[in-house]
Amino acid sequence: MASLGVNIDHIANVRQARQTIEPDPVQLAFLAEIGGADGITVHLREDRRHIQDRDLQLLRETVKSSLNLEMAATEEMVQIALNTLPEMVTIVPEKREEVTTEGGLSITANEKYLKNVIEQVQSSGIPVSLFIDPDKEQLEASARVGATWIELHTGHYAEASRQNKPLELSKIKEGAAIARSLGLRVNAGHGLTYQNVEAVALIEGMEELNIGHSIIARSIAVGLTEAVREMKSLVQNPRTEYLFGK
Ligand code: PXP
Repeated sequence: MASLGVNIDHIANVRQARQTIEPDPVQLAFLAEIGGADGITVHLREDRRHIQDRDLQLLRETVKSSLNLEMAATEEMVQIALNTLPEMVTIVPEKREEVTTEGGLSITANEKYLKNVIEQVQSSGIPVSLFIDPDKEQLEASARVGATWIELHTGHYAEASRQNKPLELSKIKEGAAIARSLGLRVNAGHGLTYQNVEAVALIEGMEELNIGHSIIARSIAVGLTEAVREMKSLVQNPRTEYLFGK
């Protein structure tokens, strides 16, 4: 059964829109945990457009479940990770002009550099996950650079039309199987919603799904605790007969 990591960046997005102190992602992370979040995920971007250094420091002190720090593979971020000691570091590609993370990392193009970054982070006991597309070459390279986990990018599946969803889903399934055969542990995320999450939760060996936008959007209507509770229920009890939503 997969677990649920809740990405709370969007709470900080609302705060930063007004450059004020509310809503506070640190205070609200607690409500996500009450709703059943198995972990809290934040992306500390280089331009600090949503999560701030202060948020990360306080979350390190207050998160009771598990803290997953998404970050670019830069020297600054490595130092922050080593000072903060989250339960997991997920390395993501980062472009300033993008609205959200747009695609997986190219491990093959940066093997030597990433191997060094992963060694630095893992030497302080923090397992590293690499956010990648379900691509055989990237998976093999992820194993070579010494990652413990990979997070499969589900964005293409999420965006695919109803006709193309089975194909995109099969790529994720195949990617998960290859990853496991290489000794990598498997997470997935990006673009997952209440309508499309169940098919991904059903994939064999899927350990954690990282979900942000859809949960925070729903929380406006029902509150964060309830929004997380509803998503957790779908992740834990996915319906086999209801694969891609309506
Ligand atoms: N996983 C990674 C690596 C991400 O960068 C993001 C977006 O910050 C997510 C998961 C969550 O994506 P979404 O907000 O679309 O659920």
